[in-house]
Amino acid sequence: MNEQTQSDPMLAAPTVSSVIKPMGDYPLQIVRGEGVRFWDNEGTEYLDAVSGEWVVNLGYRHPRVTAAVKEQIDRIEYVTPVFENELRSQLAEKLVSLAPERMRSVLFALSGADAVEGAMHLAMRANGGSEFVTLYSAFHGTTFATLALSYTHPHMLEGAKEGLDRYLTRQIRVPNYNCYRCPLQMKPGNCDLACARMMDLAITHQPDAKVAGVIIELFQSNGGMIPMPKGYIEAVREICTRHGVALIADEVQTAMSRCGDIFASNVVGADPDLIVMGKALGAGFPLSGVVAAEGYTSLRGWEAGFTLMSTPAICAGSNAMLDVMVEEKLGDNATVQGERIMDRLRAMMDKYSIIGDVRGLGLMIGVELVLDRNTKEAADALTGFAWEYALREEKLLLGKSGPVFGNYGNVIKLKPAVNSTSAEVDEMMDRLDRVFAATQKRHDSGR
Ligand SMILES: Cc1ncc(COP(=O)(O)O)c(C=O)c1O
Repeated sequence: MNEQTQSDPMLAAPTVSSVIKPMGDYPLQIVRGEGVRFWDNEGTEYLDAVSGEWVVNLGYRHPRVTAAVKEQIDRIEYVTPVFENELRSQLAEKLVSLAPERMRSVLFALSGADAVEGAMHLAMRANGGSEFVTLYSAFHGTTFATLALSYTHPHMLEGAKEGLDRYLTRQIRVPNYNCYRCPLQMKPGNCDLACARMMDLAITHQPDAKVAGVIIELFQSNGGMIPMPKGYIEAVREICTRHGVALIADEVQTAMSRCGDIFASNVVGADPDLIVMGKALGAGFPLSGVVAAEGYTSLRGWEAGFTLMSTPAICAGSNAMLDVMVEEKLGDNATVQGERIMDRLRAMMDKYSIIGDVRGLGLMIGVELVLDRNTKEAADALTGFAWEYALREEKLLLGKSGPVFGNYGNVIKLKPAVNSTSAEVDEMMDRLDRVFAATQKRHDSGR
């Protein structure tokens, strides 16, 4: 236990010692949830501005989702994937019909990472290549193939990838889009999309490698909540088509109405060959998948697949979630509420100099904190303070970029449920305003 945890009861070390804790030491024990609120084991109520971990996009325990899952469990909970299961077929059909036009089929999996691997597999079978182009600050998961795709900041290299070389195959890594901190030191609007052009060069000058695909998040999340600049995805599409490689859109975070449509591909005008889904797809249960365009369907039975994938009860919940999203036009709600949040954040920027940049697409929103707006020095410690202050004093759950897979730990993430009401969003912003006021005060006091 370090000094900070000893002196601070909120940070007291949890007593659990028999499980491997993959993340964080914060001792909050969440025991119940409803909509955008949850309660801890002492009955304290919290407001959730991040849908769990951008997973419960309809909020906790949406009545139609829980009813559908319960009803299915009362019939049969598991069907071997060897046989067709009606709810899985229904779900696949819905996803294909909601995805961009060229999409034809769905490969299901369990988590975002194994779905990314499914997309890699499909891309490799399609053109016989085996290399992938991936971006600085990308995050695609922590299985061996996806950890290799994920970016680790040079100073974290030892921690995250040390000793795993045997399984972390090489990748072609190119500068990411990031107009606030351009890795190529160029000025937005004046760069002729140099980051996309680097991708072209990287593929062209790989005589010893056959590239199977390019994988990109349509809004880089772990890397710092970064939107694509205008024209970027079109340029990448053209490059992929010209080189005969698959364009894989990792929509593990951006899909399921978060960015203004079931798929962000439809919002930004992407025309990918493969779309990876995860997180919110299972409405709180483990389900992920890939929607694939024609020509990307060549896997034989059992070449990819998991015993527990797309079980009927989970598909029932996912089907119900999609129905609610479509019937209630929740993509549109995400756009409207996202703008409402962005307006508040822009107003906060006028009050708090620690806010260096705000950026969003629907309800996928990042606030970058800096020590100085001119130098843009990242305010990692202040961001950690803001995150904890929000939870402890305002009972508001925020997200925070970590430095492991991006470059910085100075971005606050907001990804509330896509059915959040204006009143709920306002309540989140009132609390966040007070969080930033306290964070600014701490900064001004030189701590
Ligand atoms: C963009 C993206 N891809 C893939 C993954 C991996 O998903 P999972 O943790 O479900 O394996 C994540 C997880 O954060 C992600 O953000």
